[in-house]
Amino acid sequence: MANLVTETTATDVCFVHLIDEDGRALRLRGATPPFDQLVGKIELAVGEGVSGWVADHGEPAVIIGDKISDPRYRYIPALRGEDYTSMISVPVVTPLGHLVGVLNVHTRLRREFTTSDVDLLRSVAGLVAGAIENARLHQRLAEREEALERFAEQTMEWQEHERRRLAGEIHDGISQRIVSLFFHLSAAADAIGTSPDLAAEQIARAQELAGAALDETRLAIAGLRPPVLDDLGLAPSLASLGRSFPQLDVQVETTEQQIAEHLETAMYRTAQEALQNVAKHAGAQTVRIRLTAPPGRIVLEVADDGTGFDLAVAGSALAGQGGPSGFGLPGMRERAELLGGRLEIITAPGRGTTVRLIVPTAARSVPAG
Ligand SMILES: Nc1ncnc2c1ncn2[C@@H]1O[C@H](COP(=O)(O)OP(=O)(O)OP(=O)(O)O)[C@@H](O)[C@H]1O
Ligand SMILES: [Mg+2]
Repeated sequence: MANLVTETTATDVCFVHLIDEDGRALRLRGATPPFDQLVGKIELAVGEGVSGWVADHGEPAVIIGDKISDPRYRYIPALRGEDYTSMISVPVVTPLGHLVGVLNVHTRLRREFTTSDVDLLRSVAGLVAGAIENARLHQRLAEREEALERFAEQTMEWQEHERRRLAGEIHDGISQRIVSLFFHLSAAADAIGTSPDLAAEQIARAQELAGAALDETRLAIAGLRPPVLDDLGLAPSLASLGRSFPQLDVQVETTEQQIAEHLETAMYRTAQEALQNVAKHAGAQTVRIRLTAPPGRIVLEVADDGTGFDLAVAGSALAGQGGPSGFGLPGMRERAELLGGRLEIITAPGRGTTVRLIVPTAARSVPAG
C-alpha cells in the first residue's frame, strides 16, 4: 500500500501509522523500503510529532521545508528526517468518520505541495481506511471465534467433570450405603425369629444408613445445582453453606448487591469447593468468606487459618491438567475464566490459604470487539 501511495503521489517515501485499539498511540504499520524494516518498531503518542498532531487534530499538515523549526516536528533518528525536505501528513478516516491512522509522504527534494496534492492524498487515505478497518474487523471476528471455541471446550470439560463427580458420589457414597443397608436388613430378617433384640439393632443401623443415603443424595443434587440460591439469595446461601461445616467456625461478610444469576451460582460453587478443601486439607479452625463489589467487579474470598500448602506442588493442578491431587482447584479456575475473571490462590505452608475469585460484573465470557 505504501508503495502504491508513493507512486500515485509521485513522492519518495510513505509511512502508514495506525492508531492502537485504545486510541492513544500511533504505531508504524507500513512503509516503503528501506523503512519497512521498522514496521512495528516505531510508536508515537497521539499528539506527539507531526503525525501525532494530525491524529489529534484530524486535519492534514503540510511542511514544505525546514521542518526542524516546525514546533510539531519530532526527530526520530531511524526515520532519517534529515534526508527528506517536504512532507504531507493526512488523517486516515473511514467513510463513517472513524480515525484509524495517519498517512505521510515525503520528498527528498523540496516540493511546493498544493491543495490538490493534499486532496489526492486524502482520497487515497479514504480508500485505504476502509481496507484497514475491514482487516481489523476480520481479525476481531477471528479472535472472537477462537474465544468461543475455547469457551465451548471448557464448558464440555466442566460438564464431563461434573458427571464424573456425580458418578463418584453415587458410587462411593450412596451405593455403598445401600449395599450395607441391604446387609443389615438381611441380618435383621435372619434374626427376627430367634433373636428379636439383634434384629432390632440391625434395623436401627439400617435406618441410620437410609438416612445417610438420603443426605448424600441431597448433597449430590445440591452440587449439581444449588437450589438454596433460588430460595434465599447468595448471602444467606453462603451463610447456610458455612453452617453445613459444623467443624469449622465460618464467618460470612457480604455487602448488599445485585448479582446476575449465573455469577451467583459461580460464587456459590467456588465457596463450596473452597470450603470442602478447607475441611479436607487445611486443619483450620476459622474460615472467613467475604463477598465484596468494587466497581465493575465482584470478589469472593475464602480465607482459612489452616496449614496452607505449597503452590508449586499443586501447581500442575492450577495449570488445569487435573493435578496430582484433584479437580477442585482447576475446576474453580476454569469457571473463573469462563466468566472472563480469574482465580487467585494465596498460600504457603503454615500460612493459611486464601482463595479469591474475581469476576467482572459486565461479564462477557467472550471478549467482544
Ligand atoms: N485450603 C487448603 N488448605 C490446605 N491445602 C489445600 C487447600 N486447598 C487445596 N489444598 C491442597 O491442594 C490440593 C489440590 O486441591 P484440589 O481441590 O484441586 O484437589 P482435592 O481437594 O485433593 O480433590 P477434589 O477437589 O477433586 O476432591 C489438595 O490436595 C491439597 O493438598
Ligand atoms: Mg478439592
